[in-house]
Amino acid sequence: MNLIFVGDVIGRPGRKLLKKYLPALKKELNCDFAVVNGENSASGFGITDNVYKELIGCGADAVTGGNHTWDRPEAFSRADEWDRFVRPANYPPGAPGAGCRSFDTPKGKVLVVSLLGRVFMDPYDDPFRTFDAIYEKYSDHTIIVDFHAEATSEKNAFGLYADGRAFLIAGTHTHVQTNDLRLLPSGSVYVTDAGMCGSLDSVIGMEKGMSLNRFLACGGKKFEVEKRGRMVFNGLSAQTGDGGCPPSFSLIKIIDGEGDF
Ligand SMILES: [Fe+2]
Repeated sequence: MNLIFVGDVIGRPGRKLLKKYLPALKKELNCDFAVVNGENSASGFGITDNVYKELIGCGADAVTGGNHTWDRPEAFSRADEWDRFVRPANYPPGAPGAGCRSFDTPKGKVLVVSLLGRVFMDPYDDPFRTFDAIYEKYSDHTIIVDFHAEATSEKNAFGLYADGRAFLIAGTHTHVQTNDLRLLPSGSVYVTDAGMCGSLDSVIGMEKGMSLNRFLACGGKKFEVEKRGRMVFNGLSAQTGDGGCPPSFSLIKIIDGEGDF
């Protein structure tokens, strides 16, 4: 099974990058299933109905959430209708939508799981034990986990915890692609952060002046998505091993020259 995982799509530039590159990548890599992190896809914060549909239209087979999942009230009210949307599974009971979803592909069943880390983040339920409960029900699936977390240590720890159970564990949230894509000892494919789709000449996708004000003056305006500069499309591809072959995997990093984003 050939999989593509795309890191946080940041606002309109991220969506334009997705539209430009994902369909071609799916074709080129003979992709059976593509997961896209969409929690920053509506102006950098959250996701709306139109944006969700746009991501699906670009070829996302599943869209995952993160700590900004409910930034738009529309997401909270429509999460139950969005059948390819996976919000964090370790939200408290009662949250709308689904924290994991099963999909049929020509090569078998895929389970997409979204989990939030808790280090330097809000106090969500335990992502480790939440994963245990999910795995108990879906151990026959090819499991893809989007682990949305701030701390590298927590992502590393989760990777080793789920090793051999999830096929792919991809970190998101920090928006900078890490150079540690690898096979873990029990056979899972792991990366600390898949990166983002957005402006490379920005502060994790946001306009640099506004971000600098936070550091230089402890204040300033609300963050806005950077729409200028060079753009980057970040993700990874992973192929499950067949007939005794080990899994294969590769980071995807496409730098797009300054253009109209
Ligand atoms: Fe995030």
